Amino acid sequence: MLTVAVLISGTGSNLRALLDAAADPGYPARVILIGADREAEGLAHAEAFGIPSFVVPWDAFDSREAWGAELDAQLQVWKPDLVVLSGLMRLLPPALVQAWAPRIINTHPAYLPSFPGAHGVRDALAAGVAETGASVIVVDDGVDSGPILAQEHVPVLPDDTESSLHARIKPVERRLLIDVVRRIAEGDLDLGARPQPH
Ligand code: GAR
Repeated sequence: MLTVAVLISGTGSNLRALLDAAADPGYPARVILIGADREAEGLAHAEAFGIPSFVVPWDAFDSREAWGAELDAQLQVWKPDLVVLSGLMRLLPPALVQAWAPRIINTHPAYLPSFPGAHGVRDALAAGVAETGASVIVVDDGVDSGPILAQEHVPVLPDDTESSLHARIKPVERRLLIDVVRRIAEGDLDLGARPQPH
């Protein structure tokens, strides 16, 4: 059974979908820990499912490195097999990425490498593209630049707003995330080798 920690910043609707999937005894992964960089609304899902959770508040630290070191310490207590960033709206410091790579993945609401960063949906709309998408990637030191594990296109409709487009992307993200975690758990998806320290 693959053990998973999920890190969030927001409503955690994609986390919720993973929790629902993992409630099926036939699903080969279990969420054992949920963390956030703030008092995120999505932490309520941890309570609902009786899963331990923690907050490492971004604002309480002087640097990204100090914040990341505390996040790493929390993760090390539970030692999950996989860390999933599911709407964690912070760039992780390189030391944290190095500690968990390649067993750390991220969902993103765009068809990478197009529209990386914190505003993937807004940026796609502003660019006027006919389609965008959803991606699940391995986290590396860059901004949404790691190896792509799964992705799918989503059309942009003429009257789309950021929220209507994001609402159509999220179900695709959820499906991809649930499938990627399953494939990792079943050994069908290779996350690649551990990167060597520089
Ligand atoms: C998701 O669309 C996720 O891909 C995105 O935040 C949303 C979280 O929604 N993440 C990023 O944009 C990271 N760059 P949720 O809290 O409802 O699951």
